[in-house]
Amino acid sequence: MRKPHFIGNWKLHKTKKETVDFINTLKQFLESKQDKIAGICPSFVNLDAALHAAKDSNIIIGAQNCHWAESGAFTGEVSIPMLKAINCTYVIVGHSERRNIFGETDFEINRKIKALTKADMHPIFCLGETLDQRNADMVEEVIRFQLEAGLCDINGDALRKIIIAYEPVWAIGTGVTAKPHQAQEVHAFIRKYLGERYDRGLAEETIILYGGSVKPENVKELMAQPDLDGALIGGASLKLESFKAIINY
Ligand code: PGA
Repeated sequence: MRKPHFIGNWKLHKTKKETVDFINTLKQFLESKQDKIAGICPSFVNLDAALHAAKDSNIIIGAQNCHWAESGAFTGEVSIPMLKAINCTYVIVGHSERRNIFGETDFEINRKIKALTKADMHPIFCLGETLDQRNADMVEEVIRFQLEAGLCDINGDALRKIIIAYEPVWAIGTGVTAKPHQAQEVHAFIRKYLGERYDRGLAEETIILYGGSVKPENVKELMAQPDLDGALIGGASLKLESFKAIINY
């Protein structure tokens, strides 16, 4: 039984006070929602405060990125041991903004996923096709490639620690959501791929989130899809009311 996960990706938003106030209110709201898992990925500088605010709740606090090296001359980067030391165990990896704006490659994404699982942490591994790729009928090819590359050298035990997030690039921040059947097709494809590469039982346990313009108005239909286990939410996770409405779908 896969518990629905709703994880907010806050990107470059919210100060420390805004982060803490939000989490304190969310915490109260979630007390009666033990059947769902909610998470927030604030900016690095607010992670520690967010983790303190979320203490004694089941709110996941995740980072939005990490470096694969334990330490070294990597100006501006944050390491996995640094995150682990503050008890931050979830990290978004391979978000399309990291791939497209900051030039992150599948190879680097794989290094991060390997380093995170080795440290017993949980990557939230993002993948998804662009509009051009969808229009060229290349969705399965692109997703398969991203899975092959991202999960290179990842065994079944490591896969158990990973959350996958299917985020079609054309749906992120655009207000255009994938139609529920389009999301389901890709989620089913990912699960089938995992079943063939690892085993069916493991594929059935894997949490596969959808991301891309998820809002209170479309979450119910998306969640009705059998292979969709929750959402990675950008814009609509920034307002408490819309995030709560999504969790309450
Ligand atoms: P969005 O962002 O919900 O604003 O489309 C999703 C994401 O980038 O994870």
